[in-house]
Amino acid sequence: MQAKAREVYVPPVLQDLRAGTAELHIALEKRLPFFSDLLDTNAFGRLMQAYYGFYAPLERALLDSAAIPADFDLTPRLKAPVLRADLQAMHLPGEAIDSLPLCRSLPVINSSADCLGVLYVLEGATLGGQILRREIAARLSLDADNGAAFLDIYGAATGRRWRDFIEYLGSQALDAHDREAVVAAAQTTFSCFERWLESREVLA
Ligand code: HEM
Repeated sequence: MQAKAREVYVPPVLQDLRAGTAELHIALEKRLPFFSDLLDTNAFGRLMQAYYGFYAPLERALLDSAAIPADFDLTPRLKAPVLRADLQAMHLPGEAIDSLPLCRSLPVINSSADCLGVLYVLEGATLGGQILRREIAARLSLDADNGAAFLDIYGAATGRRWRDFIEYLGSQALDAHDREAVVAAAQTTFSCFERWLESREVLA
């Protein structure tokens, strides 16, 4: 495992998120096929199509919700457009991308606490991306130019952007009840994603 991105302060909500999602992370990580000998370019493409089917509607739901905190700039953190570009780079036509199945069983986003929980999962996933990026480059010769930009979405800014997100998270006034809601949203995000990937038959 990689060294933890340098962090100055771990706010209570992050401690709760880590405690509440560690097992879900381990379980999902074990089932994802990034390190499988069976993963070829075709299987990677199907995996990224399934990712798109989750990220696109979930980011849409975040954008459409009235709950996203006004001072949080989501646009530069959107990942579905990069997934879409990756699929195009892997020669999937725009019309085929538009007709990909999209997950309908998404976490409910009714409060800023819900948003923060969902965002924790989507932002945290960029950290593991740094390991997956190297594996996929070595195994399939795919990188940011030919289908694997999503795995390196923030590039050299990955650590800084994670720290910025954690700082933002820590700056929110959250009581114990709010923190529970943040953790519940993060847990639901992990479980919805796993169930979705399972239904798309891309998990080990
Ligand atoms: C095989 C796939 C994956 C690998 C190898 C992996 C690996 C990692 C690694 C190395 C970290 C950094 C841990 C640290 O610095 O202590 C991390 C953090 C994280 N990952 Fe993953 N990851 C994978 C998939 C995912 C997925 C699919 C998600 C969610 C959609 C996810 C969500 C997170 C979150 C939320 C964190 C932040 C944990 C924290 O520091 O609070 N990961 N992952």
